[in-house]
Amino acid sequence: MDFHHVSVMLEEAVGGLVTDPVGTYVDCTLGGAGHSRRITELLAPEGRLVGLDQDEAAIAAARERLAGAGCRVDIVHTNFRNLEGVLQELGVAEVTGVLFDLGVSSPQIDNPERGFSYMQDALLDMRMNPEAGFSAYDVVNTYSEDELDRIFHDYGEERWGRRIAQFIVQARAEKEIKTTGELVDIISRAVPKAVRREMNGHPAKRIFQAIRIEVNDELGILAGAFRTAVKFLVPGGRLAIITFHSLEDRIAKQTLKELARGCICPPELPVCMCHHQPEIKLLGRPRTAGREELAANPRAKSAKLRIAEKIS
Ligand SMILES: C[S@@+](CC[C@H](N)C(=O)[O-])C[C@H]1O[C@@H](n2cnc3c(N)ncnc32)[C@H](O)[C@@H]1O
Repeated sequence: MDFHHVSVMLEEAVGGLVTDPVGTYVDCTLGGAGHSRRITELLAPEGRLVGLDQDEAAIAAARERLAGAGCRVDIVHTNFRNLEGVLQELGVAEVTGVLFDLGVSSPQIDNPERGFSYMQDALLDMRMNPEAGFSAYDVVNTYSEDELDRIFHDYGEERWGRRIAQFIVQARAEKEIKTTGELVDIISRAVPKAVRREMNGHPAKRIFQAIRIEVNDELGILAGAFRTAVKFLVPGGRLAIITFHSLEDRIAKQTLKELARGCICPPELPVCMCHHQPEIKLLGRPRTAGREELAANPRAKSAKLRIAEKIS
């Protein structure tokens, strides 16, 4: 099967995650199983890997890639928002490490049929789970101008979001917008030429990111999933998170900060009354890809790796 995805910060993430060769590890974003394969290489036969992905194509590729693993492997086709239920169903009470390598895989972006890319004409789709009912077509053709403006602002941080939303609503009043190409044309018409010349990247880039986040509810589920992961970690177990844009990174940073916090008493109290204990400690500052990796894989440019350890 042709599923080509170059894993980002592979050695740093897996090296920081695997602390016990007979432990149980969860990869919440299997993709092509690049990170998972490396994890299994470090595990003894008594070790175990549980891998999740909401994309059936990724699951198929991961099954193939992990077929020869020397430890127990369980692969589950699901959204990581269901992490707790998956672990309960598998009878896993605690885990030694959990990895999140967020966002989309290269095959999702590169396959024109998935409709993720503004560079290739395709039906508007962008579902990471093609079985989900709600797609980019629904966002573009049914959201009000205010709703479009909100997601373009919140998930795309796009200054021209209101005007682009107006142009979309006007265009679809004439005929429904079916393809990525039609949407790119509308976005290009909405952003004045002089502004387009000064923009960093294609004007459709942030709008497509915003629609993708909305279609897959990418941000809404993150904090809960990180907390569930920490809940299942053994003392000394690790959580590794790789983010690719500022919105998801902000959620990772904030959630880890809250979990690492001890006393939560109001600052005016002279002594601690809450006895709240931190659940994790942060292991160093967020890391970015090295020069060699950046030269070989431009996708690593925006990656940030955060690692935390559960406190006993
Ligand atoms: C960046 S890729 C992972 C690549 C993988 N680490 C590797 O080395 O091959 C992200 C994957 O996570 C999946 N994904 C994203 N959000 C998800 C979610 N909420 N639940 C389950 N899978 C998700 C995507 O379908 C995609 O296959």
